[in-house]
This record gives sequence, structure tokens and C-alpha cells, in this order.
Amino acid sequence: MLMAAARTPVGLAAMVDQRAAGQPLEHVLGWAEFCGLRIAVEPGVFIPRRRTEFLVRQAVALARQAGAHQAGAGQAGARVVVVDLCCGSGAVGAALAAALGRVELHAVDIDPAAVRCARRNVAAAGGRVYQGDLYGPLPAGLRGRIGILAANVPYVPTGEVGLLPPEARMHEPMVALDGGGDGLDVLRRVTAAAPVWLAPGGHLLTETSERQAPQAIEAVASGGLVPRVAHSAELNATVVIGSRPGGPDERPMLAAGP
Ligand SMILES: C[S@@+](CC[C@H](N)C(=O)[O-])C[C@H]1O[C@@H](n2cnc3c(N)ncnc32)[C@H](O)[C@@H]1O
Repeated sequence: MLMAAARTPVGLAAMVDQRAAGQPLEHVLGWAEFCGLRIAVEPGVFIPRRRTEFLVRQAVALARQAGAHQAGAGQAGARVVVVDLCCGSGAVGAALAAALGRVELHAVDIDPAAVRCARRNVAAAGGRVYQGDLYGPLPAGLRGRIGILAANVPYVPTGEVGLLPPEARMHEPMVALDGGGDGLDVLRRVTAAAPVWLAPGGHLLTETSERQAPQAIEAVASGGLVPRVAHSAELNATVVIGSRPGGPDERPMLAAGP
């Protein structure tokens, strides 16, 4: 891959040196493959993991189910409001937009380098990226309108960060990895506020380890959402999904065009 990426022998030698010094391959190349897309990843930005493609697949299936339901009810042409919270490079939002086609995409990250990177990656989908703490910078008009809330938050317990491979520990920011004592501090803040932001029938999707899933389910349920877990043995991925029940008198998960 380095040979294909380098423009000159000198450039190749420099890339090999960077990789040999321990820089992650994706940071040396400047991109990572995710859901078949080439996602720009600058040094210092979290590299999207292959296992997170499972979260994307789950979200796409839920959004398509809602789309089929709405089309059946005569609201074809509606588009899902997608929020990629803790977006990092914006890989999840970009992949959801590529798979779903018509989405209204918003993304948030607290880290300026991630925000810069995400802006590049969601530009093609017309996505907007905000810098700040969780829901803080989102437009107030999104309250009660989000159909898919993807939140791949940091979830490594503080005491286990030191056990991560050096590529992660030394080249990805701590704010992208460290999820507090049991790893679920950020997730709990996300689940507590999610019902206010989700549309009726909307879904929160978040990745955890298999071991953390019971506590994550508890957090989702105590926030007022209906929880369930999806697991992929192939990708070693666990996704906890919290759904806001949709009532007949309430606004649905899909917003009518444009
Ligand atoms: C595990 S990384 C996931 C990035 C991306 N969603 C992905 O799957 O590739 C977590 C991201 O959350 C961001 N983050 C951590 N705490 C945050 C907060 N309070 N508000 C917004 N973003 C936060 C970090 O900067 C990092 O980019």
C-alpha cells in the first residue's frame, strides 16, 4: 500500500520510516478504508475500526425499515435525519449517507483535528460538522427530529488504556479512547439526553465491548429508550440500540423532503 501511495522513491522511504517508527498505516497513508469508502484520516485523529461497520449496517437496516414504512404510508421522498455524535473522522456519518442516499447529516466532535477531518469526509453528502461537547453545538431545531443517532463514543475503561496496542495508545488522542472508570461515562451522558433529541421511532446506536453490554443496556433503558443488543462474532462487534417508541399522534422518524 505504501508503494502504491508513494510518488517518488524518496517519498516511499519517508513513509516506510514513519511506519517503522510505529505510526499507524492509515495515518501514514492519510486514509482508511471503511464500508468501501476511502476516509481521510489525519495524524492524531481516531482511525475508524472495521468492527464499526457493523454499527453502520444495523443503522442502515433500521433506517430502511422506517423508509419502507413511510413510503407505504404515502410519504416517499422523506429523508432521515442522521446525527454522528463523537464523529471522529466522520466515517460513520459518511458511510450512512453513502448507503442511504437521501439523508440530512449532522456530526459533532470535541476535537478540532477530528472536526477538520470530518468536514472533508462528509462534504460530498452535504453534512454539517460542529465542534463541541456532545449535543451542545447541535441546532436546537433537531430536538425530537433525529431518526438515526450514531454515537461511537470512547469506551475503553481508564485502567485498560495502557493495554491497547501502541498504535492506539501513542497515536490516537486520549479523548477518543478513554471512557472513564468502567468505560461508560460518555455513553451515560449520551443516553440520558437521547430521548429529547430522537424522533418518535428513532434509534440510538452505540458500540461497546461484549462485557460492557449489560451496563450499557441499563443506561439506555434508564434514559427512557427501549434497549436491545446486536452482536457480530465475525467482526467481534457489539452494538447496543435504544429506540424511542413512536406514538400515532407523534411526528415520525422521517422528515418530509426536500
Ligand atoms: C472512539 S472515537 C470514534 C470516532 C468515530 N465515531 C469512529 O467510529 O471512527 C470517539 C470520538 O469521540 C470524540 N469525543 C470524546 N468525547 C467527546 C465529547 N464529550 N463530545 C464530542 N466528542 C467527543 C473523540 O474526539 C473521538 O473523535
